[in-house]
Amino acid sequence: MASESGKLWGGRFVGAVDPIMEKFNSSIAYDRHLWEVDVQGSKAYSRGLEKAGLLTKAEMDQILHGLDKVAEEWAQGPFKLTPNDEAIHTANERRLKELIGETAGKLHTGRSRNDQVVTDLRLWMRQTCSKLCALLWELIRTMVDRAEAERDVLFPGYTHLQRAQPIRWSHWILSHAVALTRDSERLLQVKKRVNVLPLGSGAIAGNPLGLDRELLRAELNFGAITLNSMDATSERDFVAEFLFWASLCTTHLSRMAEDLILYGTKEFGFVQLSDAYSTGSSLMPQKKNPDSLELIRSKAGRVFGRCAGLLMTLKGLPSTYNKDLQEDKEAVFEVSDTMSAVLQVATGVISTLQIHRENMAQALSPDMLATDLAYYLVRKGMPFRQAHEASGKAVFMAETKGVALNQLSLQELQTISPLFSGDVSHVWDYGHSVEQYTALGGTARASVDWQIGQVRALLQAQQA
Ligand code: ARG
Repeated sequence: MASESGKLWGGRFVGAVDPIMEKFNSSIAYDRHLWEVDVQGSKAYSRGLEKAGLLTKAEMDQILHGLDKVAEEWAQGPFKLTPNDEAIHTANERRLKELIGETAGKLHTGRSRNDQVVTDLRLWMRQTCSKLCALLWELIRTMVDRAEAERDVLFPGYTHLQRAQPIRWSHWILSHAVALTRDSERLLQVKKRVNVLPLGSGAIAGNPLGLDRELLRAELNFGAITLNSMDATSERDFVAEFLFWASLCTTHLSRMAEDLILYGTKEFGFVQLSDAYSTGSSLMPQKKNPDSLELIRSKAGRVFGRCAGLLMTLKGLPSTYNKDLQEDKEAVFEVSDTMSAVLQVATGVISTLQIHRENMAQALSPDMLATDLAYYLVRKGMPFRQAHEASGKAVFMAETKGVALNQLSLQELQTISPLFSGDVSHVWDYGHSVEQYTALGGTARASVDWQIGQVRALLQAQQA
């Protein structure tokens, strides 16, 4: 261990490393986040070494106690890094040696930082996936509760950002909640692939010392063992998948944020963001800006940038471990922090948002019932293509006469089709309109209730 360079790997090196290179190479500034899982992995590994006869029981106990002390120092703050602590793995081992002496040198037997670092990262990400999934579930639950409470509020649904058809406000909320249930399901699937043990792969070739990897798997509670040591030390599919999960989830949230930003403008006036999630302007006193939503929208760019960055790093790497892979951790840590914040702020925004029912109702206009007018004729036996044209003629007639669609008289409508009769007046009722959409997935009350039940059931199944 003692070497001229003062490094754990310094035996074959002469002289000092260029200080700029030293800094360039060092990962301790961020991989220190892995201190706890690094200790956890080392404790399991020392048990594996004892079983393989490479440590006596007394040596293993010494190492286990020493590692507990290292963890305690990290948890309580007095852990002191030295300038030679290049990574969390070397820092922990250096401190272990100071605490227990030369026995510490046996801990790394047959292990490489290549299998160690990826084991640490998987352990850390396994916990993070669980935490983020709980935050995502909380957001979805908040949205479903809101959808349930406000089922009777109607407002315009838009396609191409043009008024399309009347819908329930809950139908809009659920459209976003349903997308998020795919994200929570995806995260659980990613977690399953994160939860695989690479330890025991060594640097590339595996372990020659009779290590029982099944023991390590059980000790660390992994779901499976990696199949090939060359693949295990270099594959970062689980990182790419996690970053893609976050990219798609923030993409979904950016769409919801954009809708709410628009709905919150004076021009729409449908919703009002709580002061807790807004900020003012330093110049214009009247302004209240939806910064929370703008930031949620923006994070999709940052997160996808990390995803694209990692894939660029992986592309074209030769087989097995290369130092390029050190770049994975900053992406994972940053994206995890971002997702944690985004999900909590989104939950806060949704649970405190106010809606302006009157403005929503006022924004509904008779032209949005033109499709229903066509369906009226379809119900009287007209083929849909003809009905579409007849309704289009009614829209044109109303426009030329400068009146609303529902202001055309029965006589005027009958010049377009003799199938129009007195009951056409029912068409001009927004409540009646939405209630027609009873097929599962539609905006009728019964169908919205069904969606609420389905999403709740999905959440329950995911949490089981
Ligand atoms: N800091 C390194 C990483 O994050 C640890 C593994 C280093 N392995 C090596 N052969 N130099 O990937």
